[in-house]
Amino acid sequence: MQNILVTGGCGFIGSNFIRHILADPGFQGRVINLDKLTYAGNPRNLDGVAEACPGRYVCVRADIADAAAVERVFDEYGVDAVCHFAAESHVDRSILGPEEFLCANVLGTFRLLEAARRRKGKITRFHHVSTDEVYGTLGMEGKFTEQSPYQPSSPYSASKAASDHLVRAWHVTYGLPVTVSNCSNNYGPYQFPEKLIPLMILNAVAGKPLPVYGKGNNVRDWLYVEDHCAAVWLVMRKGREGETYNVGGGAEMPNIGVVRRVCRILDETLGVEAEGPRERLVRFVTDRPGHDLRYAIDSEKIRKELGWEPRMDFDGGLRRTVAWYLENTGWVADVQTGAYREWARRQYGEQA
Ligand code: NAD
Ligand code: TYD
Repeated sequence: MQNILVTGGCGFIGSNFIRHILADPGFQGRVINLDKLTYAGNPRNLDGVAEACPGRYVCVRADIADAAAVERVFDEYGVDAVCHFAAESHVDRSILGPEEFLCANVLGTFRLLEAARRRKGKITRFHHVSTDEVYGTLGMEGKFTEQSPYQPSSPYSASKAASDHLVRAWHVTYGLPVTVSNCSNNYGPYQFPEKLIPLMILNAVAGKPLPVYGKGNNVRDWLYVEDHCAAVWLVMRKGREGETYNVGGGAEMPNIGVVRRVCRILDETLGVEAEGPRERLVRFVTDRPGHDLRYAIDSEKIRKELGWEPRMDFDGGLRRTVAWYLENTGWVADVQTGAYREWARRQYGEQA
């Protein structure tokens, strides 16, 4: 792998992944980051990377659903491997407006698969990054395995399920060397503050309400983003063609427990406010429609076959994440004011 196309590299996980592989001494190739720079794409997530790795990082603003643009990028940069993160990723937005999710997640994945198929002998790996949400919801018992049936509940998870099926079909029908990973909820630096953990951190710091859906009993299995990046990189290099690997942190927690921990860490770090502990800001609000009760991942396959395991425990990861949002005030202000979008326009031109 010399010229790896990373789609969605300006997003939360993609930007962490690009930093991760460029820091791996075993990889001396180049990363081509193809990103549409939607509201979720922030090229400043990769500040300093091009300078630190001269000639090894390039960012191109384009839509993965734009066939001509995708073809151009494959040819211009001699792409020989793909790591596909680009997606509309927020469940609440998918409920309000599903169409964009179908364009990016389904049509966009199809366009990439077709570009890869046309260069089949040259593409050594097409890795597709997906989610455990394709399996739908669990009750209070059990875990998702790679054999769990697909039962997506939201427009987001349905679109990701469709993209997983396309990827597998391109392997079975056309022999494309694909792998798929289905991962649980990530958290860590550079996550856009529409997702639970960064939203709660920044609201609590600002003394704003902390909206917890329903009774806060829904359970997610949290994984520190760096551990996810290590898993994706491992599967890309060592995973067996045509296989799916589930990736999870083994750190299940109800949402209210997560929010209380965030409040406690902030109280410890910044001191308890005169009005009282930050937990006072919790508000139980109307539940999300179709809200999956519980996700939990059985990661036995990737652990046994590839020797992966998460390094960060949830408490350590959460403390590190809170510290990152407190320290990176410039990044936070950029995102909160929307200044990063103007910066992206000046640097990379209008959206394709
Ligand atoms: P994100 O929303 O932070 O980033 C998505 C990136 O994709 C952004 O940079 C955006 O500009 C780009 N993008 C969106 N539509 C595009 C298009 N049409 N063409 C090109 N670029 C486009 O998302 P994330 O949280 O980093 O998630 C990355 C991937 O990982 C997604 O495929 C998601 O389904 C999957 N995933 C996420 C989680 C999680 O907890 N965040 C868990 C498991 C799997
Ligand atoms: P989210 O970060 O949106 O990830 P996902 O929906 O992909 O799991 O939400 C994580 C959990 O937190 C989910 O059960 C919904 C809940 N949640 C809230 O209770 N309040 C919020 O403001 C948000 C954004 C999420």
